[in-house]
Amino acid sequence: MSAKAAEAVRTAEAYYDSDDADRFYAVIWGGEDIHVGLYDAPDAPIREASRKTVAHMAARLAGLRPGARVLDMGAGYGGAARWLAREHGAQVTCLNLSEVENRRNRRLNAGQGLDGRITVDHGSFEDAPYPDESFDIVWSQDAFLHSARRETVLAEAARVLKPGGELIFTDPMQMDAIADPAALQPVYDRIHLDSLGSFAFYRRTLRGLGMQEVACEPLTPHLRTHYARVRDELAARRGELKGQVSDAYVERMLKGLRHWVQAADQGLLAWGVIHFRKPE
Ligand SMILES: C[S@@+](CC[C@H](N)C(=O)[O-])C[C@H]1O[C@@H](n2cnc3c(N)ncnc32)[C@H](O)[C@@H]1O
Repeated sequence: MSAKAAEAVRTAEAYYDSDDADRFYAVIWGGEDIHVGLYDAPDAPIREASRKTVAHMAARLAGLRPGARVLDMGAGYGGAARWLAREHGAQVTCLNLSEVENRRNRRLNAGQGLDGRITVDHGSFEDAPYPDESFDIVWSQDAFLHSARRETVLAEAARVLKPGGELIFTDPMQMDAIADPAALQPVYDRIHLDSLGSFAFYRRTLRGLGMQEVACEPLTPHLRTHYARVRDELAARRGELKGQVSDAYVERMLKGLRHWVQAADQGLLAWGVIHFRKPE
């Protein structure tokens, strides 16, 4: 692995393991989901909108039956895993880099009586510690953006899928053609990388891996709504974070969210659901 790729993994791990991030996601995002929501109204609660994304993705999957083996790559606190286990009887494996998140995930699973259906593994989706053809579904939400080796991540997803299995994911992306990539620098700086994925990149790479496209569904306006919603919620409720989250973190987060919203307003970003199938 290149030094830059290894550094990207270390940066993501240190960030999600930090007390500041953990408390921020617990208080402002609800401690279940950390991904872009689907908003019926711009002021809808973040937690509800985030749940909607999970339900929307789940509804697309033909193979989501009781007992289906699902791998969630970059599972965060495991909100999607609990939904898939509870609502669909799936057997879910969460692979996630942050052990701080993993501990909360395991606690929540046990508290909801779902620990028999959900396993939580510490590790990187760039090197998934599972045999070939071991999952019916590979699922991921807003996690691949953190990798400097997105081709490798997709190859790992394709490798661990059974023939006929489905890959479904969302990711904050850049538009397919950007006239001036420098305009995205403030967003790249947030993730400490020099690119985001794009619909074109993911489709090209997955086709190159022999995967078949089921659907690509652009839902880009929700990304702008979501980041603006989180920014406004944070600004309004920052008093609640006093003593729990450092002022420096809150300032950096507000600035970062402003950059995401500005880039969305400039038409530079994309977001949506990407769904592929591994041939039989
Ligand atoms: C924005 S959060 C999304 C979490 C979860 N998918 C959700 O929607 O709630 C991004 C997640 O990606 C995970 N992550 C980042 N890089 C990773 C890697 N190389 N391997 C596994 N997980 C990773 C982080 O630990 C973090 O939980």
